[in-house]
Amino acid sequence: MKNMMDDVKNILFTREEIHEVVKRLAAEVSRDYADKEVLFISVLKGAFVFMADFVREVTIPCEVDFMAVSSYGAGTESSGRVKILKDLDTNIENKHVIIVEDVLDSGITLSRLIDMLNSRRPASIAICTMFDKPARRKAQVKATYSGLILPDEFVVGYGLDYAEKYRNLPDLCVLKPEVYEK
Ligand code: PRP
Repeated sequence: MKNMMDDVKNILFTREEIHEVVKRLAAEVSRDYADKEVLFISVLKGAFVFMADFVREVTIPCEVDFMAVSSYGAGTESSGRVKILKDLDTNIENKHVIIVEDVLDSGITLSRLIDMLNSRRPASIAICTMFDKPARRKAQVKATYSGLILPDEFVVGYGLDYAEKYRNLPDLCVLKPEVYEK
């Protein structure tokens, strides 16, 4: 029987370590938004795992919504706006929006998304990311709430994929090199 763990070289952060950080982020947000109406927005697909864990630790009333956007590779970074594949169902005007992300990498996706969401006149926009790779940042974007800092290494699990697989690994893992060579 196949087991994903056979493809894992090492675990970078265990599910227990991740859960402690999720609780810390949710506590910070619940405290800061105690008297506000908050809408959590996730960009599919990677963030679905963190979003599910995060909102269940948040103690204030909130709404959730999802978007899908196309992400551009290095060659097309200056090509314009993020393309929306699935838009929000919610009107965000005058709402306090928090973008819930799995990983903040170059920041290009998020900086464009924020420009686009700002044009819809929300009351505020903040970013809450589980993982952060500040060393890879290209766009001017900083997480308001940031979980764990990652080395510049390819990681999977906790929502993050390689070729659409391994999102369901509960720990954040580094794959064996031979997996990429298959
Ligand atoms: C990841 C992640 C962010 C984006 C961050 O999504 O979920 O949305 O990349 O990268 P950036 O900071 O360099 O813009 P990805 O495009 O891998 O899609 P997925 O969530 O469906 O895996």
